[in-house]
Amino acid sequence: MLRTSASRLFVAAALASALAACSGEGASDTAASGDAAPAGEVPPVLKERHDNFEGIGDAFKAVRGELEKDAPDFALIAAKATDINTRAKLIETHFPAGTSVDDGYDTEALPSIWQKPEEFTAAGQKLIDESAKLMTVAGGGDKAATGAQALAMGGACKGCHDQFRLDDKK
Ligand code: HEC
Repeated sequence: MLRTSASRLFVAAALASALAACSGEGASDTAASGDAAPAGEVPPVLKERHDNFEGIGDAFKAVRGELEKDAPDFALIAAKATDINTRAKLIETHFPAGTSVDDGYDTEALPSIWQKPEEFTAAGQKLIDESAKLMTVAGGGDKAATGAQALAMGGACKGCHDQFRLDDKK
């Protein structure tokens, strides 16, 4: 009896802090009460999502680098795919309302993210799925198959960027 309620408490507390850490809840509160992006009060979630995408970018670069070699390190590719998969699951938690480029922040997040939330979630899910497939395919050690799956995963990046990321080179 005691044990049950104690562990239930623990689970609840862990969940609450995990949610607080991931959802950027505090950050969106700050943004909401401050209205139009007050100088020096950038919500921490902006850096978190920047760092997360940088991590995704670095991992993808490492995958492509291996695939250029005659004898790719498939274990490394699988590990990078796992990293991308883990980071892809965080994407959705990094976009609290009021943090688009139209809110005055230094970000490439387009308002379409909040106008088409289901499509944005689907685009994120696609990366989760394609990176999971890459983990499996890389485990098989076949270069052509791994290359094809890396390409498919790259399509998931592009699919989301085309719709939801500001392209300031246009
Ligand atoms: C679900 C949508 C989505 C997917 C999938 C996605 N991205 Fe992005 N990415 C974004 C958005 C939105 C931004 C802009 C974030 C910002 O500026 O706040 C971004 C920014 C980036 C950046 C710039 C980081 C920065 O903040 O300067 C890199 C690098 C990047 N993405 C790489 C990738 C790679 C590589 C993949 C695929 C393996 C990928 N992304 C998949 C939406 C996505």
